[in-house]
Amino acid sequence: MILDLDHVGIALPSLKEGLATYKNQMGFEHIHTEEVPSEKVRVAVLLAGNTRVELLEPTSEGSPVSQFLRKRGGGIHHLAFKVEDVEAEVERLRMEGVELIEPAPRKGAQNSKVAFIHPRSTGGVLIELVERFVR
Ligand code: CO
Repeated sequence: MILDLDHVGIALPSLKEGLATYKNQMGFEHIHTEEVPSEKVRVAVLLAGNTRVELLEPTSEGSPVSQFLRKRGGGIHHLAFKVEDVEAEVERLRMEGVELIEPAPRKGAQNSKVAFIHPRSTGGVLIELVERFVR
């Protein structure tokens, strides 16, 4: 089952500039920064109340986020929804004919397990499913 919205992922060229806006000017709480080698991104996690925003900065030219920035120049990159069991959810969606980016879940930020649904299946929105063990 797909549960609540977990976070909104925003792609930008520089976390430093992103934090200057979202943390310093808008006042979001910056709770964590981490490099996620499997996604070739550095992620800053911020909270606005209970709403989570993840700023994504590419760490290499080959990062999917680099491609996104070249094509779209930054903006909302994905929406992430919580799931209790990402393996089971991926299997269920596959049976429903939903197209996933990769065949199996992988490791996301903060030890989470994640899988992505292809925008072709969702009206143009990259959807992340996240099974989370810590805040
Ligand atoms: Co995400």
